[in-house]
Amino acid sequence: MKKILIALLAVLLAVPAQADEGMWLPVLINQRIKDMRAKGFKLKAEDVYSVNKACLKDAVVLFGSGCTGELVSGEGLLFTNHHCGYGQIQRHSSVEHDYLKDGFWAMSRDQELPNKGLTVSFLEYMEEVTDAVLKGYGEGMTERQRDSVIKVNSQALVADAVKEGKGLRANVEALFYGNQYFLFVFRTFKDVRLVGAPPSSIGKFGGDTDNWMWPRHTGDFSIFRIYADKDNNPADYSPENVPYHPKKFFKISTKGVKEGDFTFVYGCPGSTKEYVTSDEVEYTGSVSDPKKIDLRTKRLDIMKKYMGQSQAVRIQYSSKAANVSNAWKKWQGEEKGIRRMKTVEKKKEYQERFKEWAKGTRYDGLVEKLETLYQKRNPYFLAYEYYNETVRSIELLQIASTVMMIIKNKEAKDAVAEQFFKDYYQPIDEEIFVAMLKAFDSEMSDEFKPQYFKEKLKSYGSVEAWQKDIYAKSLFTDKERVLALTKDDAEAIKNDPAYQMYDAFYKWYFNTLRPVINDVNSQIRLAYRDYMQGQMDYEPQKQFYPDANLTLRIAYGNVKGYSPADGVYYSPVSTLKGIIEKDNPNIFDYNIPQALRDIYAEGGHDDQPVCFLATNHTTGGNSGSPIINADGNLIGINFDRVWEGTMSDIVYDPSVCRNISLDIRYLLFNIEHIGHAEYLFNEMVFAD
Ligand code: ARG
Ligand code: ASP
Repeated sequence: MKKILIALLAVLLAVPAQADEGMWLPVLINQRIKDMRAKGFKLKAEDVYSVNKACLKDAVVLFGSGCTGELVSGEGLLFTNHHCGYGQIQRHSSVEHDYLKDGFWAMSRDQELPNKGLTVSFLEYMEEVTDAVLKGYGEGMTERQRDSVIKVNSQALVADAVKEGKGLRANVEALFYGNQYFLFVFRTFKDVRLVGAPPSSIGKFGGDTDNWMWPRHTGDFSIFRIYADKDNNPADYSPENVPYHPKKFFKISTKGVKEGDFTFVYGCPGSTKEYVTSDEVEYTGSVSDPKKIDLRTKRLDIMKKYMGQSQAVRIQYSSKAANVSNAWKKWQGEEKGIRRMKTVEKKKEYQERFKEWAKGTRYDGLVEKLETLYQKRNPYFLAYEYYNETVRSIELLQIASTVMMIIKNKEAKDAVAEQFFKDYYQPIDEEIFVAMLKAFDSEMSDEFKPQYFKEKLKSYGSVEAWQKDIYAKSLFTDKERVLALTKDDAEAIKNDPAYQMYDAFYKWYFNTLRPVINDVNSQIRLAYRDYMQGQMDYEPQKQFYPDANLTLRIAYGNVKGYSPADGVYYSPVSTLKGIIEKDNPNIFDYNIPQALRDIYAEGGHDDQPVCFLATNHTTGGNSGSPIINADGNLIGINFDRVWEGTMSDIVYDPSVCRNISLDIRYLLFNIEHIGHAEYLFNEMVFAD
């Protein structure tokens, strides 16, 4: 009996505490593969990650500076999200060729469009280098000495790793708050061309209305191709370059997905904080998120009011509003999720147990220390966040500071001015100025208001009077005057009231807030190094994954619906029928291209799959990641999460945390019916 109990206990301990939670390091695949296979995965560890043979990791790239992409042909063809390729698509667009509105499809290789500045990086290998990084560090050294040891050792490791050249770059990353160090070696390609993108009315279907939501019907994909020199090595753009032949690319599965199917996301999640104390969570959930949501609600209301009155203003502000609203909506889910999960309370209980255990160890007093540090930091950090969300959101101040920064370069300055005024609508900015300064005034305690602010407000008597005066006097409201500026006008700019306001606030931030925040933050980071190790020692049987830091990770789970609220259940697959139900020519976000209506009218496409939900633990940066089935074949492209689960950056809840993926069959449908670019199918490999 006892033996059985012990065996049972061992089994229980071996199973990860939270199903589907985790963003695992591919190099440690051996620790996960058993669990993955038990959940349905059919491949072996070395098919996922290996340095000796081509494997799935060789088909995944870091796309640009914050997305993921995947290779789908032997000719360098790559899929990512529409919102990841958005900047490139926009840059190629003009009034004559509006690729955002109409989509873009190269019909042959020579029509593919090069993209200056766009890179993709393949991970060559990663390895733990903790010992090498800390070599020479010894007892009694200060933190500063430790940092310089790390710096010197890391530089040597990096130099050694990239000595072959050929597009190699490397960096050493601290994981688990500096308890472990890993070397990441990448090969970066710089000639990446746009091959195809659907019209935004498909690629961004649902817009900000549906963003972070289910049911979802967004065709969020774009297609690129990587080019290399004739030896298959990275090279700057050249017409002589040829399509890159990757070591590995994904086969495409058209078998489809159904509830319960195993899924696996391979990509580059950006940032999470799963191991922080209750103080940090409380600050995020009860202070930072709600305050920032309020401020952004005010800004969005102002933008939307004017956008609703004029088509021209709607176009000017749609991308700006999208940016403001993306985090705004995410924070709402995060705040609510933290509360529903009782994360603060649960962390507090955990910390009490930890403190008890830590008595007499080197971890004694750590939780208390962090608490003190947060108490010191939070008021300063909140003032910083307020400054960021209010004063820094005023466009007039933004253009004044940017122009000052680049005044010596007339060409750059003029380009910035043209771009700025194309999308500037002064009444919105004026109203935001008033709303944001009023919020700053009423929410900040006196101690956290710059002297400049107090004096100005006193002399004007009201925020409104201040606003009228600054917009009447600043030269930065007028495009012609900004264009007329030359490098000799730096002095004149210094006297501009908008620049002065920007400068006064910035100096206040730089001299009053920043030093305290930086100092306390570095103490917090240090305390976390110990607290992280403490948590690992406290629960030696638990498998920890490092917080996301844009390095390649594995998340696995299965296709699954969820219940967002009492009495409601969401099934995990959406179809073209749902797009037609949402279609409305009078609502911008839901106005689909006529071509799509026509195809639907032909009949037979009701069940065309569009998106699906799964339980993979993902975050920002995972956009564009391949989502793979049990056979290792591509079934979709990850692009979002549901807002009810966005607290997964802090705490994962298996009941509502869902990632949203585009069904690969909808991408194929678009290539065929919208792009008429079926020739692309010839280079893809279909698995089933
Ligand atoms: N919410 C997704 C991700 O963070 C997609 C954002 C782009 N789409 C949009 N409608 N703003 O970041
Ligand atoms: N939409 C996010 C991205 O752009 C993904 C997420 O936050 O789930 O990376």
